[in-house]
Amino acid sequence: MFSSRIKWDLAPNRLARLIAEKRARGEIILDLTESNPTRAGFEYPVKEILDALARPDSMLYEPASRGLMVAREAVSRYYAERGAAVDPDRIHLTASTSESYSWLFKLLTDFGQSVLIPHPSYPLFEFLAALEGVELRPFNLDYIHPSGWRIDFDSLEQAIDAGTRAIILVNPNNPTGTYLKQDELERLNLICARHSLALIVDEVFSDYAFEDDGRRVTSLVDNSEVLTFVLNGFSKVLALPQMKLGWIVTGGTSGGRSDRAARPDSGHVSFSRSAGSARSSKLAGIACRIAGSDQGSCSKELPVTGSASGGGSGQAAGGGRRMVCDTGSPADSH
Ligand SMILES: Cc1ncc(COP(=O)(O)O)c(C=O)c1O
Repeated sequence: MFSSRIKWDLAPNRLARLIAEKRARGEIILDLTESNPTRAGFEYPVKEILDALARPDSMLYEPASRGLMVAREAVSRYYAERGAAVDPDRIHLTASTSESYSWLFKLLTDFGQSVLIPHPSYPLFEFLAALEGVELRPFNLDYIHPSGWRIDFDSLEQAIDAGTRAIILVNPNNPTGTYLKQDELERLNLICARHSLALIVDEVFSDYAFEDDGRRVTSLVDNSEVLTFVLNGFSKVLALPQMKLGWIVTGGTSGGRSDRAARPDSGHVSFSRSAGSARSSKLAGIACRIAGSDQGSCSKELPVTGSASGGGSGQAAGGGRRMVCDTGSPADSH
């Protein structure tokens, strides 16, 4: 009935069954695994958020495959507040970080090719990759006391094979809370350059550091050594996962991989197949951006006929305020 990509055992596990039984018996459960911020008792600026969504211009449909400029400028200001200059041209809005992953898997891999993921890390990768026909090849993070978690570079290099297209990093990582260190980034850049790999860096928890540490790389939006995609969004930055607004910042436009990834005849992105919908023109927009072309010349070949993502919630980004909350999210002091 279903495609071979849907190959999971979806039966509830023992813990889920036990919780369901206890709930059915009316027992009081103190759920220490609750990770949904909207159920964790935070006070949200409800009126401001809902007013931003109710603005009349939210009703205007503006097909913009990379997302509305007003929202991309707001994201650019988010980085400016943190000391990084990110041109809105490098920002591509998506309907969540999860969707960003699916775009990047489509952009970078052919069916059956692989990306490397840290172990331990975010469990959803397994599902996101399976849906795109991507193989996940794990590399280890080692805990070394007292300095903390580090990338095991031997296992990372062993995990690379001929079909590997990218390395995923979560910075800071979920669940270890560890930030990437400067010396690790230098090694990663060398490895990516040697094997023509892109870096996909999930920074959804980057605002949640407990204290400063000069050895850390707090963001890779400035990484120009290799093709780099930085992911973030409302889900964690504003504790608003239901708003479904994420973004990809592209960087490192020079070098072999970026040119190959964007070339129409490369097989990685087929412009002819992409034409005809805003969803696929987003993909081509990212490809154009990393190829160094401007969106204008690309959009001549790629008429936008579908719906653009990020519209309404983009206005929330423009008019929104930063909400500070202590979620106890993974962020360590290393
Ligand atoms: C590391 C990491 N990336 C991405 C996400 C999901 O982000 P989004 O809600 O924008 O899909 C999560 C959610 O817990 C996460 O832990």
